[in-house]
Amino acid sequence: MKLGELETPALLLDADRMAANVTRMRSRMAALGVTLRPHLKTCKSADVARRLFDGATGPVTVSTLKEAEHFLDNGFTDIIYAVGITPGKLEHASRLRERGADLKLLLDNLDAARAVAAHAARRGNLPTLIEIDSDGHRAGVAPEGADLLAIGHCLAAANCLAGVLTHAGASYDCRSVAAIRAMAEQERARTVRAALRLREAGLPCEIVSVGSSPTATYAERLDGVTEVRAGVYVFFDLVMAGIEVCRVEDIALSVLATVIGHQRERGWIITDAGWMAMSRDRGTAKQPVDQGYGLVCDAAGQRLPDLVMIDANQEHGIVAHRSGQPQHTPLLPVGTLLRILPNHACATGAQHDRYHVVRGASDSVEVVWPRFSGW
Ligand SMILES: Cc1ncc(COP(=O)(O)O)c(C=O)c1O
Repeated sequence: MKLGELETPALLLDADRMAANVTRMRSRMAALGVTLRPHLKTCKSADVARRLFDGATGPVTVSTLKEAEHFLDNGFTDIIYAVGITPGKLEHASRLRERGADLKLLLDNLDAARAVAAHAARRGNLPTLIEIDSDGHRAGVAPEGADLLAIGHCLAAANCLAGVLTHAGASYDCRSVAAIRAMAEQERARTVRAALRLREAGLPCEIVSVGSSPTATYAERLDGVTEVRAGVYVFFDLVMAGIEVCRVEDIALSVLATVIGHQRERGWIITDAGWMAMSRDRGTAKQPVDQGYGLVCDAAGQRLPDLVMIDANQEHGIVAHRSGQPQHTPLLPVGTLLRILPNHACATGAQHDRYHVVRGASDSVEVVWPRFSGW
């Protein structure tokens, strides 16, 4: 099938760019001597997941139990569910383990730890990681705090303590490579410190899991760490390009859109890809260069200089020259195909139910890979 035969908007995945991103991260982790545990919440696709490994099926990270189900069905057994567990999901987790998943859970409070311990006493072992707050970004216990040991003792008494895990989400707010390097070292040091405290208290701590794409890309040493999780590196996006974690040319995901009309006096090109196709994510708004709802390329993936998707309605996109000066917008004819690069690959991907796999500038769709969503 040719791109011109697709009904737009449609999600495109450049397989060559993805393969280069995957190889780069794999080699980096191998050089640093740690296991890479990709986060599959970005792709939500077994076809993509299989291409992240050299023949192996894992280890992997997921953000929902539905992802765990799906990837287990596709042969991925070593799974960390990296969102804090709730008591209501423990039975589901046990069922996954009975079906053969080596599923590990995550939590950061004593209430959840007690629920895991009680459930494990009835239904069998539930290996669980303690979430560490390494950057003040979101969830987790302080590596130096009393909660860490209290939770550790509770889980260990039930034979459920598997290790510690952190995600340095604050790396997304770094504004220089030096700042990301420093964040990577902070992420490593604080998580390793938490592991040490557990071990000094006589508790087991086999897994020391860190990771985000920015810190994985720039970490200089990872001693004490056993594994790194990263997700968005597979596709990359404008937010990652905005903090120099990738180049714009590395972005493997785009939305194919068609020009449907113009507002000539305003210098606007109207397309059929609105926020339903791109998502509402405006992640570059906080960055030095705001990319609107996306950067605009031609049908072959070549950037059209300074053309940006400046606004979005549900099914309408507005494309204009970055300067805001109407005379600079090339009024591309109705029917012109465009590829729009997304701010946030996970959010844009989530708007679609399949990947149309392409290679570079080719106008052929090689294959269609389904992707799933929901919980
Ligand atoms: C717990 C956890 N681990 C790993 C990741 C992967 O980070 P990134 O998407 O920057 O690669 C995320 C992303 O949100 C996450 O929430």
